[in-house]
Amino acid sequence: MYSRITGTGSYLPEKVVTNADLEKTVDTTDEWIRARTGIERRHIAADDQCTSDLAVHAARLAMTAAGVQPEDIDLIVVGTTSPDLVFPNVGCLVQERLGIRGCPAFSIEAACSGFIYALTTADRFVVTGQAKCALVIGAETLSRIVDWSDRSTCVIFGDGSGAVVIQPSEEPGIISCHLGADGRYKDLLCTPSGPSKKPTADQPRDPFITMKGNEVFKVAVKTLESIVRKTLAENNMDGSEIDWLIPHQANNRIIQALSKRLKMPIEKVILTVQEQGNTSAASVPLALDVAVRDGRGQRGDLLLLGAFGGGFTWGSVLLRY
Ligand code: ACO
Repeated sequence: MYSRITGTGSYLPEKVVTNADLEKTVDTTDEWIRARTGIERRHIAADDQCTSDLAVHAARLAMTAAGVQPEDIDLIVVGTTSPDLVFPNVGCLVQERLGIRGCPAFSIEAACSGFIYALTTADRFVVTGQAKCALVIGAETLSRIVDWSDRSTCVIFGDGSGAVVIQPSEEPGIISCHLGADGRYKDLLCTPSGPSKKPTADQPRDPFITMKGNEVFKVAVKTLESIVRKTLAENNMDGSEIDWLIPHQANNRIIQALSKRLKMPIEKVILTVQEQGNTSAASVPLALDVAVRDGRGQRGDLLLLGAFGGGFTWGSVLLRY
């Protein structure tokens, strides 16, 4: 038994912040942002929108694409690092909004790898027969934990959501999932405050993302390369067999370096970072939905999803769409 994606959906908030907009608020230029990141614009949630609102939009579209009703959903897993509340978790908030009753609903915190962790978890439920119709979402409002006066981070992040429905299938489907983490890198990319950590005189409350960008960059390229190689090797496959590589959309330079190292032509890589910025756990399902809806991702295509994020965490999912 396999699980298979039967529908995808995504959502970007209406408000767009361009590089030119950021030139007016911090010491940066459109040229610097494009050259260093490839990002041209990002979408930012409205003041009255939370992560669950974004998640619900993407979930509805994925459910429509899969042709399933709220009563069919028997598992909800959300990857997010920017939940509306400490609790209830975003899965429960989405469940309530969609009129789904009784099924397990939870979120997974794995920064930008959150959707890959969520999809891997939901796949286990489906292949073991514990779920027959799972809603898997990546959704973020990282704009709420970005310091908009810090040019080194505010140019990078954006808000959004992506979702898939997975259901049992005798044919693959999800072929293999690979997850990893290394907490020794916890300080390179983090939000140093949280509900349990008491501020001290030395370490006052700091609710914003901090990042040693160039150090993260190097580990991100190496780790993404190694997770892709491992996924291919464990499935006795060659990169040329992959129809579409769908990497976490952190930075165009990371993706270009990855495509070069793997000798996978950039034409075979889905790129959305220019339009969306880094939407963390939402970026992979957003890129997947873009590819499906613009016709690049066809039924039967072999897709390799890969992500890397704070923790550090990383993961990949190889699947036949
Ligand atoms: N505009 C203009 N100059 C800037 C800006 C800006 N927005 N930001 C930084 N600079 C300056 C720096 O101050 C520095 O100046 P200096 O040389 O005078 O000291 C110079 O530009 C170079 O800074 P670097 O940080 O070395 O620039 P780099 O080329 O590494 O690009 C970036 C920075 C875009 C952040 C890059 O390192 C990156 O993308 N890193 C990876 C991010 C990532 O992958 N995150 C993982 C997932 S996120 C998650 O999990 C939540």
